[in-house]
Amino acid sequence: MEVPSIDINLYGPEMAEDPWPTVRRIRELGPLVWNERGQWITAHDRVCRQIINRPLEATMKGVMTNTFGEGAFITMDDKHAHNALRNVWVSAFGTPGVNNLVAVTRGFIEARLDNALAALEADGSVDMQPVFCRPIPAQVIAHMMGVGDDMIPTIVEWSDHMATGTASGHPIDYETDFYWLRAEKARASLADFLLEQVQYRRENPDEGLISRMVHSHMAATTPDAQMVVNLRQLLFAGNETTSNWLGHVVHVLGTMPQVRAELAADRSLIPQALEEMLRYFGIVHAVPRMVCEEGMEVAGVQVPAGSHIMALIGAAGRDPARYEDPDTFDIHREQKPHLAFGFGMHTCLGAILARMETLQATQALLDRMPSYRFAEPVTYDSFMLRGPRKLVIERTD
Ligand code: HEM
Repeated sequence: MEVPSIDINLYGPEMAEDPWPTVRRIRELGPLVWNERGQWITAHDRVCRQIINRPLEATMKGVMTNTFGEGAFITMDDKHAHNALRNVWVSAFGTPGVNNLVAVTRGFIEARLDNALAALEADGSVDMQPVFCRPIPAQVIAHMMGVGDDMIPTIVEWSDHMATGTASGHPIDYETDFYWLRAEKARASLADFLLEQVQYRRENPDEGLISRMVHSHMAATTPDAQMVVNLRQLLFAGNETTSNWLGHVVHVLGTMPQVRAELAADRSLIPQALEEMLRYFGIVHAVPRMVCEEGMEVAGVQVPAGSHIMALIGAAGRDPARYEDPDTFDIHREQKPHLAFGFGMHTCLGAILARMETLQATQALLDRMPSYRFAEPVTYDSFMLRGPRKLVIERTD
């Protein structure tokens, strides 16, 4: 079978700024495409699901351990080992656990909005990314863990450096790559910090997620170093992802006045508008996997052992085989499960939390932020983890 091929730099500025024409080309080439840079890629929703749902064939080995560290449950292919660790925290991220966080989250959001409104008043414009979108998720997860507010700027910096660790491409030169080495440093600093926290919580238990792990039934068989990589994964995973979603909210409310008016008039539409933002803009655009030693068959193609395979889940949100008129943003479209939070055993642990944070933030923005427009173009700097990097707004009244 002839496999279509393409030569695409998924990490370049064009893919960050406007990936949609390219992902359409990839999709139209076929269900599975060879990228001459050394990856198999798919932009079809159905094929993304097939890949992600076969963890023993399309594995996390090599691809996730590099970023998250050996022993984090996001890196595990074995369901029992994975679930045993995930279950330590699962109730905190379910609906009742998240509902307990609504008031405190709203408080964080209102305080950030105070700062944004003060800056808008004083300077005539404000960049909502660093003032509003970026710190909120870090503050929420730090609160859940029982980490002090004074650490938030440092946590944001470490997590941003981890996020850009694979920014320069595939394959990475692990010896010299600037972004990779900076990410390694951030990973090590975060690990040192969390190790101190683990040791402290052993003697000083509280209600937070660090204590929950240290005093769980898993603690007896989980070395401190492994607790640390799992905690680090938790701190990192929900940070930039959720701030990107908040960025999409700010973007939509500032550029789509009819959507803003509809949401202001009927707040019950907010959840479906938020899901449409995930489908339409995407956030995590690619989930990488490594093909197992036996190789695997995908969309009629025999993919060799050790191949790097990328499910383009952002592109899947615009797949016309699943969504009618996929390039139109429509908050009233038929609701169908999208892939923005992944699929199968590694489905996002923080989805309910992220939904709550963005719902509260949208409510607060509609209540308190006057109508605004963008004073500068909205920019994007990553395809892999895509969200507005600059959101400089000014009042319209
Ligand atoms: C808009 C916000 C978010 C998006 C788009 C997102 C996206 C994703 C995706 C696509 C995966 C699957 C990765 C894969 O299969 O390779 C994932 C997994 C995960 N996410 Fe999220 N995430 C978000 C927020 C959060 C938050 C707030 C947290 C926690 C504080 C979190 C924690 C995790 C964890 C722990 C996993 C690994 C789950 C497992 O292996 O069982 N995420 N996320």
